[in-house]
Amino acid sequence: MSQSEKPTILLVDDEIGILKSLQRLLKELDVTVLTASGGPEALVFMKNSPITLIISDQRMPQMTGVELLSRSRAIHPNAIRILLTGYADLDSTMQAINSGAIRYYITKPWEDELLLSRIKESLELYDMLMDNKRLDEITHVQNEELRRLNATLEERVEKQTAEIKNQNEELLRSFMETIKAFSTILELRLKDVGSHSQRVSSLVKKMLQKMDLNKKEYQDIIVAAHLHDIGKVSYPDTLLKKTANTYTKTEMKTVLKHPILGQSCVIAINGFEEIALIVRHHHEHFDGSGYPDYLRGSGIPLGARLIRIADAYDHIAFAHGYPDEKRLNDAAAYLVRESGIIFDPALVRQFTDPDTGGQYYHKESAETVLVTIGELKNNMVVAENIYTDSGMFVLPRDARLSMEMITCIIKIARYDPISKGITVYRADAAEKSENESLQSAIG
Ligand SMILES: [Fe+2]
Ligand SMILES: [Fe+2]
Repeated sequence: MSQSEKPTILLVDDEIGILKSLQRLLKELDVTVLTASGGPEALVFMKNSPITLIISDQRMPQMTGVELLSRSRAIHPNAIRILLTGYADLDSTMQAINSGAIRYYITKPWEDELLLSRIKESLELYDMLMDNKRLDEITHVQNEELRRLNATLEERVEKQTAEIKNQNEELLRSFMETIKAFSTILELRLKDVGSHSQRVSSLVKKMLQKMDLNKKEYQDIIVAAHLHDIGKVSYPDTLLKKTANTYTKTEMKTVLKHPILGQSCVIAINGFEEIALIVRHHHEHFDGSGYPDYLRGSGIPLGARLIRIADAYDHIAFAHGYPDEKRLNDAAAYLVRESGIIFDPALVRQFTDPDTGGQYYHKESAETVLVTIGELKNNMVVAENIYTDSGMFVLPRDARLSMEMITCIIKIARYDPISKGITVYRADAAEKSENESLQSAIG
């Protein structure tokens, strides 16, 4: 109850003297007192005023106190009810007391002190009940609000996540567009480097689809593929007009520096540290014979190993404009031959295997030749599995022959001949591809 609202006490008795005594008793309290001489009059008061406490006599002519208090529940359910009853009526009153939700009953004549203390307790109780009710209402409103928030929380989180995702995708799109625009600008200075870089990046992207990399690793490799030859902007005009086999020693030195220059072009960009490293190592060879740092195997960043493959493939396939089937085949065959030497063999397998969606590669139509054991040479690549006449398996296709391996084949053939000969890739075809790929390997 607020401070400004005084509690209202309704006194009901048909004896005017009793009402007066009660009024006197209540003088010391800061309350509003209403008096009624019977049930009907009291009900009128109840309908028109807020009531905190009702003190009613039991025995009245028109309506008993129990009946009045019982009816008052419907009008003022929170009001506290006290019944005054004569000693003779006590039994019958007790039976009816619950229906009136009566808090206390006091027998007449009452003791002032006891009645006053019951009245004070009742007023405090009422205040407490009202405070609880208010708290209940607040809790109910808050619970409702919480329930509403919970019901929409998931929806709002989903909406915000989608918005953030869209913004990120938009950012990434514009970032990749900037990178592509950059490689197109490169093309203005270096004919074909821009489109070469875009093709390399598409090939690399295709290989990455089969790998389980996180978003940052994936994006770094794609960006590095676009920018891998950026160091070539340092080439003088004279060098740009020449082919790889006509480079002078000094020009060769410039060419060998382009990965390092490329690295220094991009390393200053915040977050491009990994990209710069991939650019630096895109000419390392799997066996350690590349440049600039002679890294080998898995010591070469994955992105650089992937770019090495896509770069060589693209240089051979596009050496004379748009590639035909044969050139694509030659390019893939070259990767297979140099697998383990220039290129990461596991990645080459993945790149060239048509069964897993790899690059076009018809081993059947690659240029092969049947040779005798005596004609085998170091570095020849076996085009078909080798079996002896008795069916013993000797070597798998794609094996690159070393002198030790040839000696071994000769020894085996002495006891178990290989009379149908050995199919290898044509040396001149290999040489031709190697010459073409020399440009890719150094450029
Ligand atoms: Fe390069
Ligand atoms: Fe390149």
